[in-house]
Amino acid sequence: MGAMEPAQLDRPPYADLDRMPSDTLAMLVATLDAMTRHPEIRRVRHTAWELLRPAPGQRLLDAGCGTGDVARELAAAVGTEGEVIALDRSQATLAAARERQQGGNVRYATGDVCDLDLDDNSVDGVWCERVLQHVRDPDRAIAELVRVTRSGGRVCLLDTDWASLAFDGVQSALAGAVLRQARGRLTPHQHDLGRTLRRRLVDHGLTTITATPVTCYFPDPGSAAVVLPMVNPAVPAHTWAAPHDLWSDWLAEIRAAGARGDFLAVLTIWVVAADV
Ligand SMILES: C[S@@+](CC[C@H](N)C(=O)[O-])C[C@H]1O[C@@H](n2cnc3c(N)ncnc32)[C@H](O)[C@@H]1O
Repeated sequence: MGAMEPAQLDRPPYADLDRMPSDTLAMLVATLDAMTRHPEIRRVRHTAWELLRPAPGQRLLDAGCGTGDVARELAAAVGTEGEVIALDRSQATLAAARERQQGGNVRYATGDVCDLDLDDNSVDGVWCERVLQHVRDPDRAIAELVRVTRSGGRVCLLDTDWASLAFDGVQSALAGAVLRQARGRLTPHQHDLGRTLRRRLVDHGLTTITATPVTCYFPDPGSAAVVLPMVNPAVPAHTWAAPHDLWSDWLAEIRAAGARGDFLAVLTIWVVAADV
């Protein structure tokens, strides 16, 4: 794993993946792959899948698709009569997604979720997972997602509430210092976005809304490190400008808790769907 350039991480990496050095990008793509396999992320996605209910023949948008794992699953569900538009602002991420595509009905597109190059009422449903937390104006993005969804379609938003992150088995003062340091560097500026999704959809005039908080449970440091960057020893300390002692003390604390078997972390990811 190569070192990240400190100057290039003035904001969390997923906000602008194409500005990342290639080794950092490779690490982040590998992280997205590991998340796809993680049972807690699978549980979050299962909740969303049940709400979106993708069906044969539909035209769906995966907004902020990353490496496209969900887009390909959606494509299998809509079948050859349907289509999935997999959109992301990162060309590098889309290149990785295209490499994984073997035929099928996914159309990859570079674009900004805040300014979609799609007609009004042109898709049957939207999946938007862990993207809005990285966007400067989530309400504008939500307005766009609603605009492109046909009447009777459904928008499904999945997003993290980083303010819900809690640990046990580690010193709470140390954990608090780590979380303060990580905010805005490893975790996004839209810190509590997940819990705000329902309100934002109400503000957009939507009335039939289902909001489900899914609390992800990580009973060991290895499981947590896939989803929580501040627990991942592969993330260099200078990435988030942590004082060296804080980072090394924290990693030692996590290792010790893991060895004792009493490490615990929890993080809530919200799944919020609305009829348009
Ligand atoms: C944490 S990743 C999630 C990727 C994928 N949805 C998943 O769950 O695996 C966030 C993604 O959002 C994309 N993204 C960030 N801001 C965006 C924007 N304004 N428009 C479109 N995509 C954006 C990033 O490039 C990245 O691929």
